[in-house]
Amino acid sequence: MSSGRIPAIVLGGTGYVSGELLRLLAAHPHFAIAGILSDSQPGEPVAKAFRHLAPVLGDLRFSSQSDIESLSGSLPRAAIFGAAPHGVSAALIDRLLTCAEAAGSDVRVVDISADFRFRDAGAYEAVYRHAHGAPGRLAQFTCAVPEHLARAPTRHVAHPGCFSTATLLASVPLLALDLVTPTLFVAAVTGSTGSGRKPSEGTHHPQRSSDYYSYNALVHRHTPEVAACALAASGIAADFSFVPHSGPFARGIHVTVQASLKSSGGAAAPDTAAVLAALHDFYRDSPFVQVAAEAPHVKDVAASNYARLSAVSNGRTVAVTCVVDNLNKGAAGGAVQWMNRLCDLPESAGLTAPAAGWT
Ligand SMILES: NC(=O)c1ccc[n+]([C@@H]2O[C@H](COP(=O)([O-])OP(=O)(O)OC[C@H]3O[C@@H](n4cnc5c(N)ncnc54)[C@H](OP(=O)(O)O)[C@@H]3O)[C@@H](O)[C@H]2O)c1
Repeated sequence: MSSGRIPAIVLGGTGYVSGELLRLLAAHPHFAIAGILSDSQPGEPVAKAFRHLAPVLGDLRFSSQSDIESLSGSLPRAAIFGAAPHGVSAALIDRLLTCAEAAGSDVRVVDISADFRFRDAGAYEAVYRHAHGAPGRLAQFTCAVPEHLARAPTRHVAHPGCFSTATLLASVPLLALDLVTPTLFVAAVTGSTGSGRKPSEGTHHPQRSSDYYSYNALVHRHTPEVAACALAASGIAADFSFVPHSGPFARGIHVTVQASLKSSGGAAAPDTAAVLAALHDFYRDSPFVQVAAEAPHVKDVAASNYARLSAVSNGRTVAVTCVVDNLNKGAAGGAVQWMNRLCDLPESAGLTAPAAGWT
């Protein structure tokens, strides 16, 4: 491990988000990959699961859970990135933190699963229908997109997830600036990597390619998570009607948020130029958010940590569109952005590579 770098531990083994974390961490100037937990393939070469990373991973091998527990108790400082499935992540992270605390290690966690997104176990259990794996740890996590919270008040952070990142980036300015009535209609489209690596009928290529369809309309599990994050970021309790869709591409999220514009004091509601200016101003200090008049394309941001926003107003309704990469800004990149901050590193470190453009 290069001296001076912060050891990074990745949970999530052969998963897609784990692979994206490894891609970013391998090129990061301040983190060094110290261990990767695989439940199913401990001891196997990591490059076997992620062939595209072979040039940067060398002979790195997956670790078992006990190896990772020993590691987190032996390092004076570490950054843990959680990319395990929800329902698994909380207990796993709890064990690693317990080992680190017993050894007096300075460990920070950014968890990308849903396990630490809620403030209390009851709210989590109402959505996920199983007992929370570490309810005593919930108060140690804050859930937010980095653009909406300058500094986390807790030691650890819960990443809000991919659909939520795009939805929140589009919605929170509308609510915080009091531009709209707080009833928001969200149409969201995700690429196939959003469903994870394990194949299923719904994610099979012949099923998804050249097709387009909605699923879990108005009942998707991320809706309460979005509402809670929007309330924390804007102070407004909003009603989100969320309709996700399956898009025929591998990477990316496209979200359209529509709401009724308010007109204040008899003044006309903002036109397109005024909404764009408001969004631009809202994100003026956010290095990864770009606001443009042209409708954003998924390929503008695919495989990058950037988000791109646009908006249109007809004087009654505003439609804000936002694109992010689900595996990067919506998961691994957003997590590295938070970890950079938690470790007092420059927020953009290791994240400024632009999108590939043609994927
Ligand atoms: N995909 C996205 O776009 C996205 C975006 C935002 C958030 N997320 C969240 O990020 C997490 C990972 O998503 P993903 O898409 O990478 O899922 P995935 O491709 O299904 O990968 C999850 C990995 O977790 C590991 N795992 C399974 N059971 C485990 C256990 N009992 N203990 C430890 N590890 C276990 C498995 O790897 P091994 O068999 O090698 O251990 C599996 O490949 C999920 O919580 C997901 O909700 C995903």
